[in-house]
Amino acid sequence: MNLEITPPRALRGSVRVSGDKSISHRATMLGALAEGDTQIENFLMGADCLATVKCLAQMGVTFTGPGENGRLVVHGRGPGALKEPENVLDAGNSGTTIRLLLGILAGLPFFSVITGDASLRRRPMKRVTGPLSRMGASIWGRQGANLAPLAVRGGELQGAEFHLPVASAQVKSALLLAGLLARGETRVVEPAPSRDHTERMLQYFGAEIGKEGLTVWIKGGQVLSGRRVTVPGDISSAAFLLVAAAVIPGSDVTIREVGVNPTRNGIVEVLQAMSADLEVFNRHELGGEPVADIRVRHSRLRGVTIGGELIPRLIDEIPVLAVAGALAEGELVVRDASELKVKESNRIATVVQELKKFGVEIEALDDGLRVRGGRPLTGASCNSHGDHRIAMAMAVAGLAARGKTVIRDAGCVDVSFPGFAGILSSLRVD
Ligand code: S3P
Repeated sequence: MNLEITPPRALRGSVRVSGDKSISHRATMLGALAEGDTQIENFLMGADCLATVKCLAQMGVTFTGPGENGRLVVHGRGPGALKEPENVLDAGNSGTTIRLLLGILAGLPFFSVITGDASLRRRPMKRVTGPLSRMGASIWGRQGANLAPLAVRGGELQGAEFHLPVASAQVKSALLLAGLLARGETRVVEPAPSRDHTERMLQYFGAEIGKEGLTVWIKGGQVLSGRRVTVPGDISSAAFLLVAAAVIPGSDVTIREVGVNPTRNGIVEVLQAMSADLEVFNRHELGGEPVADIRVRHSRLRGVTIGGELIPRLIDEIPVLAVAGALAEGELVVRDASELKVKESNRIATVVQELKKFGVEIEALDDGLRVRGGRPLTGASCNSHGDHRIAMAMAVAGLAARGKTVIRDAGCVDVSFPGFAGILSSLRVD
């Protein structure tokens, strides 16, 4: 499927974006491990989260929905009710599905095989399978259990302490879920704070979880109870609209009830540092997660240099931030972001390759990128590389460019933001 974009005169209006992907995955998985029903509102009906539902269904979990209204009920009967899947589990394009489920599968006394699409089968899994093996799971796969398909024989785990070499919420979460199913205590020390949705939701489902600085720990054998979860709007999806409104003259867009968890809102801070006219208001809590409305109006942006502990807090927003950089005055420099190379595509390479087609002066760095802004963009014919966030970042570039832009292979947008094209149309002023 191709996505065609022409520049609007402005973007104006007030919208909600679809539910947070990370939180939708976690609500489904914790719901499956819990006792009793978990009713999820605003569940993300994107391909990634649907892959999680399908995998859990193969393990005997029953669901009502998901319906078009975004309601999904998980009928949890505790981890003991999960059974050996009869066939290979397919995580599709979803790193969160495979890595978090590996944590659960490692803790359950049966054999399973999990795989994914061509992109996922290239992504590093040793960061999860290594620590899970240390806890007592047996895991096999190509390159010494680094690449899916992965076969797991789980159960009888022993808690352990881990010092993670990369700040990864997926790795941390896999170990906490395995820790919940293990004997004793599991401790995870991160090099920098990564998103903490798993910790918040475990607590919300009644588990006791300790946290001090960069260390988090959990005692095995705790029973979770099913809860009602309303999923906030996804800040990572909102980011495309925030940047588009910031760079298109005359724009004024408000996004309602979007997650502003401090471990996720790096994009808001950086856009503000770039002089975006951006206001966060109506702050409140939704099921243990902070949410707010965000209003952004067009303004002249200027480039900044970012790196360090900020990076994990906006890692998924870097492709669209590069677009903001291209339209800002001066230079945008992103460092310490090598993790971009092992996302759904090598996002350093794909962002550079695709933005060059719009006439952007952009250069790949070893651990990030450098964008020289200030030049007008020209519409381009570009490629998503099968990566949802590349497709949407290029759509934002297209909105701000002169002439028409075509994004090939844009069906992947459905992975995280199925309503993207419709919301853009509803905001257009032509
Ligand atoms: C996610 C964590 C991040 C992020 C991904 C979702 C999660 O990945 O890039 O889109 O839901 O835990 P890493 O844990 O690999 O950093």
